Amino acid sequence: MGSGGREHALAWKLAQSKQCDELHAAPGNPGIAKIGRCHPVRAEDGEGLLGFCGEHEIDLVVIGPEAPLVAGLADQLRHAGVAVFGPSAAAARIEGSKTFAKEVMASAGVPTAERLSVARPPCVVKVDGLTGGKGVFVCRTQADLDEGLRSAAALGGPLVIEELLEGEELSLFAICDGQNVVPLAPAQDFKRLEDGDRGPNTGGMGSYSPVPGIGPAEVEELLETVHRPVLLELARRGTPFIGLLYAGLMLTDSGPRVLEFNCRFGDPETQSILPRLDADLLPTLAAAAAGDLGGDEIATADRASVTVVLVGADPLGRGDRGTPIEGVEEAVASGALVFHAGTAERSGQLLTNGRRILNVTALGADVAAARAAAYEGVRRISFAGMKYRTDIAAAAEARVG
Ligand code: AMP
Ligand code: GLY
Repeated sequence: MGSGGREHALAWKLAQSKQCDELHAAPGNPGIAKIGRCHPVRAEDGEGLLGFCGEHEIDLVVIGPEAPLVAGLADQLRHAGVAVFGPSAAAARIEGSKTFAKEVMASAGVPTAERLSVARPPCVVKVDGLTGGKGVFVCRTQADLDEGLRSAAALGGPLVIEELLEGEELSLFAICDGQNVVPLAPAQDFKRLEDGDRGPNTGGMGSYSPVPGIGPAEVEELLETVHRPVLLELARRGTPFIGLLYAGLMLTDSGPRVLEFNCRFGDPETQSILPRLDADLLPTLAAAAAGDLGGDEIATADRASVTVVLVGADPLGRGDRGTPIEGVEEAVASGALVFHAGTAERSGQLLTNGRRILNVTALGADVAAARAAAYEGVRRISFAGMKYRTDIAAAAEARVG
């Protein structure tokens, strides 16, 4: 379910499974159409989706985006007997409401940024609801704060004010069956529009994995501190979380702090994480959906991966539509994976269709090699208004040496 780069990466990975006889996407995109069948059923159309699942005897639905999860699509399918990887509306509130997430963290003893009762710089202003990654304003100065409060008010909804945390950010995903967790490799994403982490927050301009200094021992400690307590708390409340629990973390000098939870695979981290997997992902998602992960583990290869997001004109607003895209096949021939994020196809011509247009991912023996290969792929692609960050994973490359 879904139509972005994350869903293309998921479809690409699941289609490789021996257990996958047929892959259907609703609504999918032109990239997914090359590996499965796309159907014009929208995420908001629960009834349509149910009929579709019956008609095609769908054995497992994997829901990509947060909005249908928060709206209860997983509940609707599950009640009708369809196996779903994705949380109930009640559990998806961990992403849908920042106030709810704070409450759960407080009960579960999970470290997070402290809530502030007055907005005074430095602080962070967050809109309490789904905003597609654009409802957070990091305010270091009074001018930032004035601007942040104005922009937040324009989005509407109650505000959460919290302390501004400093440190390295990390995304850690865990596949959950309501009780147990199977972690995926840690990743970092780049939310700011411009090189050097400048400019406004976007839905994500790139990602890479693994993250230097975050090995299996660090992952285990984070699961123990963050994911497992939250799962326990949600189960205790009678709303167990089945799906992908995404912790957005700040690694501060005084330990990890949760910035946010998401109730689904992250975009564009997924595009970097999945190509590194040695293991088949499908049986693990199916086991989680069935509520029984058992002792499942997911083997990840040593190689690194880097994803560069290509945006078009107006990447923060309405995006770009109908501009011809050239060079995707050449990028693939250079060894890169090209995931479609916002594209359309007309008479065999690929066109822009959204804010984030394509994701170019490459694997390599280390971050430096993956980075070079990803940008090599990027250079083969062109469309009017194309923009991308040139510094994705540059700092990690420098740290690894
Ligand atoms: P969120 O959607 O809550 O993850 O916030 C988006 C981005 O805003 C994060 O990836 C961080 O870069 C930044 N951010 C959110 N909360 C904080 C915080 N308390 N302190 C510093 N930066 C933050
Ligand atoms: N990578 C940020 C998100 O998926 O929300």
